Amino acid sequence: MMRRVLLAANWKMFKTVPAALAFGRELLRRYDVDHFSAIDVMIFPTALALWPLSQRFAGSPIQIGAQNLDLGTEGALTGALSGYLLREAGAEYVLVGHSERRQHFGEDDELVATKVQAAISAHLHPILCVGETAEEREREETLAIMRRQIGAVLPGLGSQDAIKLTVAYEPVWAIGSGKVPTAQDANRAAAAIRHQLGERFSPELADRIRILYGGSVSPKNVREFIEAPDIDGALVGGASLNLETMVAMMESLAH
Ligand code: 13P
Repeated sequence: MMRRVLLAANWKMFKTVPAALAFGRELLRRYDVDHFSAIDVMIFPTALALWPLSQRFAGSPIQIGAQNLDLGTEGALTGALSGYLLREAGAEYVLVGHSERRQHFGEDDELVATKVQAAISAHLHPILCVGETAEEREREETLAIMRRQIGAVLPGLGSQDAIKLTVAYEPVWAIGSGKVPTAQDANRAAAAIRHQLGERFSPELADRIRILYGGSVSPKNVREFIEAPDIDGALVGGASLNLETMVAMMESLAH
């Protein structure tokens, strides 16, 4: 089963709407459709920039996603953004359970599982983020932690839902730190995720689900991760904010 390589840019709480649009204009100018035909490129801007950026990318292969969603559809929930609203604003994908949401916004496994289901109900493709902290890694709990994080989500999903899922392995200690696991270690984690998906659904279905690596990805190391057999793409923070490093990563994956 050939899984297409995905380069996903998580802009976190960066870039004003005009800055996001300017980046989008330049990215399109540099985006040669034939040259980059082998990879999928996805941008996760702030919720404010979703609609204008999706308009800018309309008719191009570049896709847009949201960084989070709240539960519900519409209602008296001040400040909340549902999957429905994000979808109508141009998002096709949504990050769920990013470690920054777990850490700073108190999202636990149960809420993450509910959000994955809410994303699917809203016709969004969820990208479920999992990964261990430095302490958990020191205690050699990496695989057990991920098994718990993924195990919380899978019971609520049917096979039809699972096809829409992407999983991102993001070790918390590697995010924004300049530290990375070896491609071999990252692949071991990705292979364990795929195995767990295979147990819950079927090995054939698990073979179709993309698994990304995230954490201090840069133009220098992105290719190495992607070449690992169970890693199908990268979820990039810092290095995706700069157009030159973003294009350099696309170049490094294009052939
Ligand atoms: P960095 O690429 O800045 O380490 O961030 C990774 C990340 O959290 C992507 O979601």
